[in-house]
Parts: sequence; C-alpha cells; structure tokens
Amino acid sequence: MNPFEQISNIIKSRRSNKPSDMNEKKIDKTLIQQLLELANWAPTHARTEPWRFIVYEGDAKKTFCADHADLYKSHTDPEKFTVGKYDKIIQNGEAVSHIILVYMKRTLTNPIPAIEEICAVSSAIQNILLGAEALNIASLWSTGGMAHHPSMKKYLGLGEEDIVMGLLFMGYTDLPATMGKRNIPLEEKILWKS
Ligand SMILES: Cc1cc2nc3c(=O)[nH]c(=O)nc-3n(C[C@H](O)[C@H](O)[C@H](O)COP(=O)(O)O)c2cc1C
Repeated sequence: MNPFEQISNIIKSRRSNKPSDMNEKKIDKTLIQQLLELANWAPTHARTEPWRFIVYEGDAKKTFCADHADLYKSHTDPEKFTVGKYDKIIQNGEAVSHIILVYMKRTLTNPIPAIEEICAVSSAIQNILLGAEALNIASLWSTGGMAHHPSMKKYLGLGEEDIVMGLLFMGYTDLPATMGKRNIPLEEKILWKS
C-alpha cells in the first residue's frame, strides 16, 4: 500500500465507538502520549497552539465521571433530570481506559478569531482519533452531558473564553468494526468551478 492508500484506509475506517462497547482493557500510557504528540502537530494559525488536554485514568477517571454526573444533577431542572442519564454519565467511564478532556485555551494576547482556535483544536482531536484507529484503539468524541455547560468550565478552572471541545473516550472493543455511513452524497457537497 502506498502512503495515500494507508492514510485513506485509516481515515475511512475510523468509527465512533460507544463507551459501553469498550472492554475495560487498559491502553498503555505511552500510546496515549504518542497520540497526544500527534495532536500537537495540528495546524495552528499564528502558532497559538490552543489545544490543551486533561487525561483521566484509573481513580481520577472514576472521580471525574462522578463529578460530571453531580454537575448534571445540580444544574438540571428537576423536571428534566433523569436518573438514567445521571447513571449513564457515571457508567461511561467504566469500560473505557482513558478519558481525554480537550479544551481550547484562548490566546488573549494578539488574538486570532476564536473560530480559528476552535478549528485548530478540532484538527488536533482528529489527529488523535486517526492515530487511535491506526493503533486499533476505539474512541468516541463526545460533547454529551455537561461538556458545554458553564459549570464544567468552572469545575475545570478554565478561563472565561476557553472552550471545552469534548471528551474523548478511549479504550478497546471486542466488537467487530461497524460500517461507516454518510447521508449526504459527496457530490452534493462540492461545487466544481472550471
Ligand atoms: C463535535 C462532535 C461531538 C460529538 N458528540 C457526540 C456525543 O455526544 N455522543 C455521541 O454518541 N457521538 C458524538 N459524536 C460522534 C458522532 O456521533 C459521530 O462522529 C457520527 O455519528 C458519525 O460516525 P463516525 O464517527 O463513526 O463516522 C460527536 C462528534 C463530533 C464531531
């Protein structure tokens, strides 16, 4: 396979995997470190390198999920709160090996538009997901639960203009790879002009 075929395979085979489909097997810490190194090579306008990572493993992972569930409980109207969702936030941490919380650290000196910092961090996340695919590591980029709620930023001690970009649930799965699906034909997304 030539390099284009190799990277095409990895990009097209990458799938989102539910945390509950993972099997509790631990990812070697050096592999997580290597994935974060890939993230660090994302494009970055004005070289702000706005990606930041909090890596939860072991007891810290459990504590984070319990705290996340408590944030949900304490910031959700009682009529909207469900025990099912509360439990799911906790259970999401059980079979995964690591949770990587990714946030955008806003550069306040000589700032470029925030959207460009978000773009850079999204690229960093994709680098992680593709690296994981190449290592047979299952992953899910999730913005569920309280990821976007102001209480999460406060809990993490982030700045006013920083943005939580998501939780990356990382682990291994015994389930066979699922087929990818796209709903809108590519042709409808492209306007060729000659
Ligand atoms: C910014 C972002 C947030 C996402 N948040 C969630 C989420 O909260 N829960 C979830 O199940 N999937 C989430 N996903 C994953 C999508 O559901 C998934 O990418 C989509 O179904 C396409 O499947 P694929 O990734 O296997 O190609 C998110 C994806 C992105 C880009």
